[in-house]
Amino acid sequence: MKAISFWVGFAACASLTVVLFAQSGSSTRNGVYTNDQAAQGQAIYTQQCAMCHGPSLAGSGQTPALAGPVFLKNWIGQTVGDLSSKLQATMPATSPGSLKPDQVSELVAFILKSNHYPAGKTKLPSDSASLNNIHFEAPGR
Ligand code: HEC
Repeated sequence: MKAISFWVGFAACASLTVVLFAQSGSSTRNGVYTNDQAAQGQAIYTQQCAMCHGPSLAGSGQTPALAGPVFLKNWIGQTVGDLSSKLQATMPATSPGSLKPDQVSELVAFILKSNHYPAGKTKLPSDSASLNNIHFEAPGR
């Protein structure tokens, strides 16, 4: 009897783990962008964003930082899709909606790199279904 309830419990835990894993998707710690992509994002950032958000993404006055503890506190628990759609809809503040989906992903790659998330071998996609599966987690351990 003990053995049976052990195995029932074990099976229940194992399937729960599978479900949780499927729901949790990927994390910003898993190398979800490439260095090339971040470099392209940096070039756009320098032209279109640095005048407000600052050359080192530190922000100033009304303009929020895009790197560092305050930014991360805002975003941990949300998804990269949330950040991408906010960026696409509201930035650059002078011309919202003017960025192409690929440019948004390049900018997000640059923002991830600036927050010390590791680069990987696969580009950050630009479709919202994939982006909504990548969760912000605290960088490093
Ligand atoms: C004219 C100044 C200005 C420019 C140019 C600008 N921003 Fe912003 N940005 C702001 C302000 C002000 C806010 C805060 C208002 C808000 O959240 O809607 C903001 C908010 C943001 C946020 C949300 C931050 C958060 O934690 O919620 C992101 C991401 C962002 N900007 C990225 C960019 C990127 C990338 C560019 C370049 C393509 C850019 N911005 C260009 C002024 C600007």
